[in-house]
Amino acid sequence: MRKSRIGILSGGGDCAGINPALKWVVKTALDERLQRERGTQYEVLGIRDGWKGLISAQAAGPGVQGDIWPLNQETVRTWDRYGGTFLGTSRTNPYDPGNDQSAKVLANIDSLGLEAVIAIGGDDTLGVAHKLSQDGVNVIGIPKTIDKDLPGTDYTLGFETALNVITEDIDKLRTTAGSHQRIFVVETMGRHAGWLALEGGESAGAFIILIPEYNFSVERVNELVLEGRRTGDRYDILVVAEGAKPAGSSEFVKDERIDSFGHRNLGGIAEYLAREIQSATGLEARSTVLSHLQRGGAPGAYDRRMGRYFGIAAVDLMARRDFGKMVSFRHGEFTAIPLEEVAGKLSLVDVETQYDTERYNGRRSIVST
Ligand code: F6P
Repeated sequence: MRKSRIGILSGGGDCAGINPALKWVVKTALDERLQRERGTQYEVLGIRDGWKGLISAQAAGPGVQGDIWPLNQETVRTWDRYGGTFLGTSRTNPYDPGNDQSAKVLANIDSLGLEAVIAIGGDDTLGVAHKLSQDGVNVIGIPKTIDKDLPGTDYTLGFETALNVITEDIDKLRTTAGSHQRIFVVETMGRHAGWLALEGGESAGAFIILIPEYNFSVERVNELVLEGRRTGDRYDILVVAEGAKPAGSSEFVKDERIDSFGHRNLGGIAEYLAREIQSATGLEARSTVLSHLQRGGAPGAYDRRMGRYFGIAAVDLMARRDFGKMVSFRHGEFTAIPLEEVAGKLSLVDVETQYDTERYNGRRSIVST
């Protein structure tokens, strides 16, 4: 029987959980018992550096690593213990209107003989996957992003490990904040969605949490801080998402660069806020930007398991030839949803039910009926 060739890649920001997913796609696809039972025969080609690898699809040669890496069970045996992605990643958009290279991707998929492409990614990578599927390619998506802002799934790989980083780092800041009676404003990632700031702040027990979904007032932040001091707080931990902003202002950006998906490089809100609080209250305020630490480190237990389950689910779809979908975890079950329901959409914090706009913190009522 002719073997079906599957290409697999990771695109966009790296995070913990991608390597476990890669491992379990390979292990499941090449599992002999499953192949016998299903009457399938697969071969898995890793594609380096996201869509960039499918634009060039350069073969390996003397002194050249090449973009294509045949993967077997032995290669991926230990991958679930490691963060990042061993395949590499990039923020390359083959459908960039200013430099459309999608024809190259389509031609390379053809010449590599790929029956299907499994793409592990967030909104940008899966947006490209959707366009490829409209162009006739068999694609399957696996959700990953520490921002957890993809619709149609309750989990995206990397999120829980990032929350652990936020929680542990804030625990460390607490001791020094308390010793000096300082305010620490901690900036998390989260461009459009406040999940990392909200759930990271809740996990760490932050005093104030500011999210992109609700424009805050600096005066109200100062009021809350002063109120806390009057009732005995010696120090304060504030968590702010990089995409959060005061009412009437626009997002804080580090520079003018715009990537091929149209994103600005966000940053600076924590520093701004610390300055504002210090000048208005006279209390010493410092800022800390957690930045890429949130994407780093070994995957926690949850990301190892979810990477495993999503990887297995992707091969289930492959065996059923159920393409154009993203595997997902919804209401406690593994399922799949059409990529068109994911592309270009975001899952945001519901301010009405999940955020306290008075206290700038998580909700204080959870059971609704
Ligand atoms: O998309 C995930 C993310 O971590 C965002 O939260 C953040 O804004 C962005 O990536 C940072 O990207 P880069 O690593 O390219 O600076």
